[in-house]
Amino acid sequence: MTAPPPLGVYVHWPYCARICPYCDFNVHRVRRSEEPAALARAILADLEGQAALTGPRTLVSVFFGGGTPSLMDPQWAGEIVAAARRLWSPAADLEVSLEANPTDAEADRFAAFAAAGVNRLSLGLQALDDASLAFLGRNHDAAAGLRAAHAGGRAFPRLSLDLIYARPGQTPTAWAEELRQAAGLGAEHLSPYQLTIEDGTAFDRAVRRGRFARADPELGAQLYETTQMVLEALGFAAYEVSNHARGEAARSRHNLVYWRGWDYVGAGPGAHGRVTREGARLATVAATRPADYIARVAATGTGLAEQQALSPLEAAEERVLSGLRIADGVAYAELAALELSPGRVADLVELGLLADDPVRLRATAAGRLVLDRLTADLLT
Ligand SMILES: C[S@@+](CC[C@H](N)C(=O)[O-])C[C@H]1O[C@@H](n2cnc3c(N)ncnc32)[C@H](O)[C@@H]1O
Ligand code: SF4
Repeated sequence: MTAPPPLGVYVHWPYCARICPYCDFNVHRVRRSEEPAALARAILADLEGQAALTGPRTLVSVFFGGGTPSLMDPQWAGEIVAAARRLWSPAADLEVSLEANPTDAEADRFAAFAAAGVNRLSLGLQALDDASLAFLGRNHDAAAGLRAAHAGGRAFPRLSLDLIYARPGQTPTAWAEELRQAAGLGAEHLSPYQLTIEDGTAFDRAVRRGRFARADPELGAQLYETTQMVLEALGFAAYEVSNHARGEAARSRHNLVYWRGWDYVGAGPGAHGRVTREGARLATVAATRPADYIARVAATGTGLAEQQALSPLEAAEERVLSGLRIADGVAYAELAALELSPGRVADLVELGLLADDPVRLRATAAGRLVLDRLTADLLT
């Protein structure tokens, strides 16, 4: 029997001080002041319960995502990290990441999070000028962003910055300059995301009312290419569609858990997980609303609302969708259930969208630019 894959733990902290108009993550305002403490206790109990599902594993990553986990009491973060380390076998280089918004109040607590075991900060800078930040509905200005980036660099050994591009009126020249400025802030990792207008968000309603238009796809592609060129020249290699790292050690181990098809436990409201059990891959989803999640943990010992075994075909399809996002691709040996047509693969190699590699299915840089089309083509 092959050894089960290494494990990541995703902890979803759903609360935000303000809900941004573009965001469709599972986010909530705190409605009852006692709820966050109850949620932290529920997450601890959920991790205990889910450890029974995974069995013994090597733990490579703990990721506090949100929402805004930098708003949680750092002591709870410390208790959650300690629980994860106790429940599984931590790798010597365990990565513990925290997402943060760049407000001064959060930056003031970075040292406490570092003391709690966080060793990587993922800071949501989003833009470097006040007008863009106001457009994005952010609760910080550009100066606060810069202060938080510097504070993050001092408090944590590893720093990553998120940016959102393809904002109305943004030109490739202005974006290139903004990227250069962001790259100069001392981060080892940058995640520039193209603005997506998600259904049901305030931005979706604004676009429907004609307040602003989605970026023209051609301009979006130009801005994407600008991103690749500027960051490559500055030493940030694109190891995934929207992720750039200065050297291999700077890659997000947590995201690599997803893209390599390893296992992860999802704790906290709405968190997803993938756990290999008795040879099958189990897809798990936790209850979405914080109050429901807390109640479910109390009633059943885990927060899981759904647990479903993926068929070999579904598991292989997921491997294509996640594996093609990274430059390393995915081994054909993992895709046997798909019965990929060699002719179709050869055509895509011929078009320059797949690499000519007999061992691994790999998208080229051009292929990653049209990933949706490429995966649809392979999977239908
Ligand atoms: C879960 S969010 C949260 C992190 C943190 N709360 C913050 O806002 O800085 C993670 C990242 O996803 C990106 N993001 C969220 N919604 C997006 C959208 N509609 N389009 C593009 N990027 C988005 C942002 O860059 C954000 O930093
Ligand atoms: S972008 Fe971040 S701060 Fe804004 S609503 Fe989403 S999770 Fe909350």
